[in-house]
Amino acid sequence: MPTSEALYARAQHVLPNGDTRSARWFDPYPFYVERGAGSHIFSVDGDEYLDLANNLGVLIHGHAQPDVVAAVQQQAAAGSCFALPTESEIALAELLCERVTGFERVRFINTGSEAVALAIKAARAHTGRTKIVKLEGVYHGSYDYAEISNYSNPDNWGNEPVAVATVPGTPDGVLESVLVTQANDIEMLERVICANASELAAVLVDPVPPRCGMRPLHADYLAALRALTRQHGILLIFDEVIALRFGYGGAQGRWGGHPDLTALGKIIGGGYPVGAVAGRADVMEATARSVSSSGTFTANPITMSAGFASMSQLTPASFDELDAMGERVRQACTDIIAQHGADMQVCGTGSIFSIYFHQREVSDYRSYYKTPTEAAATTAFHRAMLQNGVLLAPTATVFLSTAVTSADEAWLLDAFNAAVQTHVNAA
Ligand SMILES: Cc1ncc(COP(=O)(O)O)c(C=O)c1O
Repeated sequence: MPTSEALYARAQHVLPNGDTRSARWFDPYPFYVERGAGSHIFSVDGDEYLDLANNLGVLIHGHAQPDVVAAVQQQAAAGSCFALPTESEIALAELLCERVTGFERVRFINTGSEAVALAIKAARAHTGRTKIVKLEGVYHGSYDYAEISNYSNPDNWGNEPVAVATVPGTPDGVLESVLVTQANDIEMLERVICANASELAAVLVDPVPPRCGMRPLHADYLAALRALTRQHGILLIFDEVIALRFGYGGAQGRWGGHPDLTALGKIIGGGYPVGAVAGRADVMEATARSVSSSGTFTANPITMSAGFASMSQLTPASFDELDAMGERVRQACTDIIAQHGADMQVCGTGSIFSIYFHQREVSDYRSYYKTPTEAAATTAFHRAMLQNGVLLAPTATVFLSTAVTSADEAWLLDAFNAAVQTHVNAA
């Protein structure tokens, strides 16, 4: 990758470690992209790849979808941002409220991290309490409180989960304000909530947490979450920054849970920077008056237009097709693993899945947590897929899109077969 190598050398003079976004990093350096079209991307080195990273779940229609491009071009020519509202923000909010039963009001912002932060602040303002509960190892972006225990490990996570700083220098006050519990453990949830109820503003969960097996939280756990939070006047916040892609009515439309507030991002911006909080009218109306949210680029009309164009094309049938594709590909990958007798498994839901290098049951972060050997196998597998022309997210995760064709599926399975063979040979 000579051109990428030269760009990376140049980047090191101006970007720390030569990069500016850790989630897309892989060793020795990521290659540089020239352009994307549909399900494919083309590197500056002249190579073509099947892109199944899709900017970590953003691009549900793949790259440069024509209607999205047209909407962006039209808005760009009409002006990119104003210190005044545009109709485009109403249209996207209406679309979201029509689809998801619990969405009565929406506030836009620029990223999923900001959406999580705004939802937590809204819950604090609404309840007059400060603490939150979150699940161990579950990622919600980079807000100080939400990133506690993102990457805790067996040396620091304790018998019962303790709040572990993700960033050195995290203030004690932040650590004391976050209580950590394990996904799908009702008894632990009940204990944590009941012991701290009078101080709790919110429980924050991802209803399909990727680092807990990438499957929906168990139905009885979701029911307990809703009942306990309601009983104690605590707001339930769902993070559907990724999970909205699991259904026309989002994850909550499919598996329930009835959150008070939901943080959104990724797909709702059609490929442009976005975040939003959606939820109960009473909470949203009241906190809109007390919680400031006035980012310079909030409800940017280019993002709003792109999001509307992209989301409009996601019909109930699109979700059925994405689900069917996910099922088909997961089954085919599982069959390949069995043919090779590899100690691996495919875990996922709907249009997303990850490859794990073991066969244990995963239902929370501790059962997900990768041994050094499993982590090394993940990195090697990501690389082997790249060598076969397929870009996965660095965690060996696939985000399918409506742009994936049957030829792409065949390409994916050929690459998968070769990468599993490489893994078996190395083991
Ligand atoms: C579940 C979840 N929540 C929040 C975020 C943060 O969103 P953003 O990267 O737009 O700040 C992410 C990002 O990957 C996410 O996956």
